[in-house]
Amino acid sequence: MSIEVRETNACCGAFITGIDLRQDISVDLAAELRAIWLKHKVVAFPDQALNNSDLERFTVALGGFGEDPFFGHIDGHENIAAIARKANEKTPVFAEFFHSDWSFLPVPPAGTCLFGITIPPTGGNTLFADQVAVYEHLPDDMRKQADSLMAIHSAERGYSPDGLYGEDDQKSGRSMNIIPSERARDKYNHPFVREHHETGKKALFSSLAYIQGFVGLSEEESQELLLKFYKFQSREDFIYSHKWEKNMLVMWDNRSLLHAATGGYDGYDRLLHRTTIADSRF
Ligand SMILES: [Fe+2]
Repeated sequence: MSIEVRETNACCGAFITGIDLRQDISVDLAAELRAIWLKHKVVAFPDQALNNSDLERFTVALGGFGEDPFFGHIDGHENIAAIARKANEKTPVFAEFFHSDWSFLPVPPAGTCLFGITIPPTGGNTLFADQVAVYEHLPDDMRKQADSLMAIHSAERGYSPDGLYGEDDQKSGRSMNIIPSERARDKYNHPFVREHHETGKKALFSSLAYIQGFVGLSEEESQELLLKFYKFQSREDFIYSHKWEKNMLVMWDNRSLLHAATGGYDGYDRLLHRTTIADSRF
């Protein structure tokens, strides 16, 4: 069996077939898969009947587990979180704003793995926005401005007790196991333009989902800028819309992409299992 890579028709993303991920993943195979992943930014492996231990082994082979704050984890697997929504759930769809996972950490995760278990027949695509392409296509004045900005990241709006996924949300019947905390108010600064330490490419890192403002600018100036950049960061021609299948594993690079969830599957259960891949440095 040899690995086949098929690119999507969008700006990023590829499908990888000709491999069974239940096998032990050698150092050489992991390096080959990582190289494909770095090039295409998000890769999907269809038809992989993985159990939770297989998903863990894959994550360890591709870089090891990253920190995963504010998520509860499934029984017996402390590094796997369930991305779940019940057919009759009325809460807002989780993570509908473009973001980079846990970008407020000093060393955010390099990647995220998501494995499809219960997939509705319609809706629920995950959108990936290529931030390397965004950076390269920014008008000169915006690129210069982006280069000079230091962003203040925080999980406060999402995961503090009074945040979007805080105590009120927990009472409203969300099936995901989210653990809001005062710790979500911590802040960490990262440059808005991030140079990927493995590819050397520059990208806009994170968005108004986790960026509260910019160092040296007022709240009003920051919000105006964040909205202006968000419009560009989420432009349709920079997006790959990924359609899910049961037994499909997807792995994306948080350093070169933003991603967002979509709804459109009310009346159907949906369940995916998620792990994060650690990074060695920012
Ligand atoms: Fe996410």
